[in-house]
Amino acid sequence: MSQQVASAEKRRGGFSSRKIFVFAAIGSAVGLGNIWRFPYVAYENGGGSFMIPYLTALLVAGIPFLFFDYAIGHITRGSSPLAMRRLGKRNEFIGWWHVIICFVIAVYYAAILAWAAQFTIFSFTKKWGDDPEAFMFGEFLKTADANAGVTFEFVPAVLIPMVLVWLAVIVVMTLGVQKGIGATAVIFIPLLVVAFVWLVIQSLFLPGAVDGINALFTPEWSKLADPTVWTAAVGQIFFSLSVGFAIMITYASYVKRKTDMTGSGLVVGFANSGFELLAGIGVFAALGFLATAQNVAVGDVATSGLVLAFVAFPTILNEAPMGELLGVLFFGSLFIAGVTSLISIVEVVISAFRDKFELGRVQATLLVTIPIALVSIILLSTTSGLNVLDIADRFINQYGIVLAAVVSIIALGWFGRKLPMFAKHLSQYGSFKLGRVWVAIVAFVLPIALIALLLQSFLIEISAPYAGYPQWLINIFGWGVAAGAIVLGFLLSLMPWNKAVSLELPEPAHTAANRTLRETKQEQS
Ligand code: ALA
Repeated sequence: MSQQVASAEKRRGGFSSRKIFVFAAIGSAVGLGNIWRFPYVAYENGGGSFMIPYLTALLVAGIPFLFFDYAIGHITRGSSPLAMRRLGKRNEFIGWWHVIICFVIAVYYAAILAWAAQFTIFSFTKKWGDDPEAFMFGEFLKTADANAGVTFEFVPAVLIPMVLVWLAVIVVMTLGVQKGIGATAVIFIPLLVVAFVWLVIQSLFLPGAVDGINALFTPEWSKLADPTVWTAAVGQIFFSLSVGFAIMITYASYVKRKTDMTGSGLVVGFANSGFELLAGIGVFAALGFLATAQNVAVGDVATSGLVLAFVAFPTILNEAPMGELLGVLFFGSLFIAGVTSLISIVEVVISAFRDKFELGRVQATLLVTIPIALVSIILLSTTSGLNVLDIADRFINQYGIVLAAVVSIIALGWFGRKLPMFAKHLSQYGSFKLGRVWVAIVAFVLPIALIALLLQSFLIEISAPYAGYPQWLINIFGWGVAAGAIVLGFLLSLMPWNKAVSLELPEPAHTAANRTLRETKQEQS
């Protein structure tokens, strides 16, 4: 490795070992998507038979795209904008597009963590009372009518934990890749596994748990003929594995050169899906209990997202034996899983500015995190926060993550013809080799699947305003945010790079090793 490259890498920091990288990658992948999104998506899309599209999507879309992200970061040794730039001048905007997508996700993800933190405390006294729905949307969030737009009426019960979440994120991020991100994952992942396994075991002993699990896994084979089920599986895998929005590009850029990336990818992919299945079992066991207690069908109590976590779960806890303990375990797990994901999302933005302007770690963290925190707090700790969150989440996922994934394949795979180089690189030290099958999957199967997913959700979008929100609100926080991310991405890519930054592709590890060997021999002779 040349001295210039070595000192640039030292300055950026990195994971000390493969193990720490794998922990951090699992920490990023396992998040809100696993705990509240997966159980309902699986149930709604065929239950037991959903495992077929789900596992197919994992093997054919998720893991192959994870390798694509890994290759980009590991070869280029840069944040997404630098990585894209090193792979071709015209690609840089994709990197900045990723940065804005992560900015938007971080803004609302932090709010959900703040709620989870509050509900962990509320669990000790079951503060939500007899009507958790009225408590969540009324007493706690004081949600305003959607027509009111952004209200700027702050809700202290949300504001205070949000400020604390952001302060914690700033502290972790200033500590750097190894001591901040790596160490948090090493502490939080085992804690999460213990808390969640405990929760699942407790749930399995609730009366009616078996009915819930039966409902989740009873196959509806006819659903396999429905294309929406397949696109739901791909969408779930992408968000849940944290692929397509530059997190894995960024993390891979911090991994030592001679590392087995393909083996690591399999560990991360299967750990994430294993956790997702565990969450499905735990959540549906609890829903089975609720259905039995209320004498209704499991389908009548199964819901997703915010309602599942903050309304259905408190209702379950009101009825369940040791509800306080279950509550602390559930909301605590949600919080822990979310923190390690939020950190990874923010790191995409920090590393981009750090690379572009050659900033120090603390400087870049403050420059980036304070504005995200301010936008997050101003928009989401108000009475209009929930509406903004719901719309931004939907649109940035579909027309941010999925669209950017298609564009990056077209730019790097079709026009740049980089896939054979990526396969060769990952195969070099990988525990298994990638060949033409991987290239064909990434170049053809993935774009077709993703475009189908996009078209399908676009048709739904134009048929009626999403979730009944006023169209003008959707235009601002939905379409506006998704389109704004692309425009801002272009604008940021026009900024000049710090002169000290090399925009050349670093030498591949094997060439560098051979050169060092040659030079050593020459010196000796
Ligand atoms: N992969 C993260 C999640 O599932 C973003 O929430």
